[in-house]
Amino acid sequence: MTHDWSGGLTSISDLDRTDVLKLFKLVDNCIKGKYEKIGLGRVIGLLFFEPSTRTRLSFEVAAHKIGAYPLVVHDPSTLSISKGESMEDTLRILGNYCDILILRHKDPKTIRKAIRYAGVPVINAGSGSVEHPTQSLIDIYTVYKFRGNPDGLTFGIMGDLKHSRAVHSLIMLLTKFDNVKLKLISPKGLELDEPFRKSIESEIVLEEISDIRSIISELDVLYIVRLQKERFKENYEKYISSYSISPEILKKCKEDLLILAPLPRTWELPPSIDSLPQAKYFQQASFGVPVRMAILISILRAL
Ligand code: NCD
Repeated sequence: MTHDWSGGLTSISDLDRTDVLKLFKLVDNCIKGKYEKIGLGRVIGLLFFEPSTRTRLSFEVAAHKIGAYPLVVHDPSTLSISKGESMEDTLRILGNYCDILILRHKDPKTIRKAIRYAGVPVINAGSGSVEHPTQSLIDIYTVYKFRGNPDGLTFGIMGDLKHSRAVHSLIMLLTKFDNVKLKLISPKGLELDEPFRKSIESEIVLEEISDIRSIISELDVLYIVRLQKERFKENYEKYISSYSISPEILKKCKEDLLILAPLPRTWELPPSIDSLPQAKYFQQASFGVPVRMAILISILRAL
């Protein structure tokens, strides 16, 4: 069943392969400048309770490009939540003022509240460590641009897999394609959580690897995420610099390997990689605007 965009985009599991490929055609057109100013007279609310550079600013630019007005809450501590107003009421009020609400919050339950109380389509711009659907669309759009459909490709996903919402959504999206192989590389203690692992195990071939050097030559895509230190309940310090990539490790990689990252980066992805032809993460970030334009257009068309 194709996705009903009038409900927004709250989980990547809402989309099937056809929805994704259809969206990518729309992204191609946005890049070519072939899009309608369907946003004229519309307001796009951006409510971010966690820090963001790429997601917030690219949605803001995307809204402008399609003719809409982005209503941005720049500092959530200035909202009346600080006077004791409930999240539910805040979402009701934001929903009154905008046609689409884009939300980022550390508590995954807040997305459910937004769906219930805002009364407008909601886009999940990051829900705790659980999901980041629009990021995974940017990730796979980058693969599609350079290599076509991800069918049959081998992905290495490296880093803090336990806490990264970008990784969770990416893996969920990859299960929708055929014969994708996953090699998961993380320090002990930062592996995928057991319940999540179990939920995808029957849908995708995966292998947990302790040393990236042993499989680097097999990879078509290497996706690297930072240590999500803000998600730790216990001390994260022991994991600092516990994994990273280097030009030396990459000596054995395929010529057409794609090195991707949702960014921001810390020590795991040093600037010494940036000049390698395989480094595509800044191009990937540039696709944030057209991918998010295509998402907004799809929703506005469905209203
Ligand atoms: C990611 C996020 O917020 O989850 N960033 C982003 O949206 N590009 C990844 C991260 O913060 O590590």
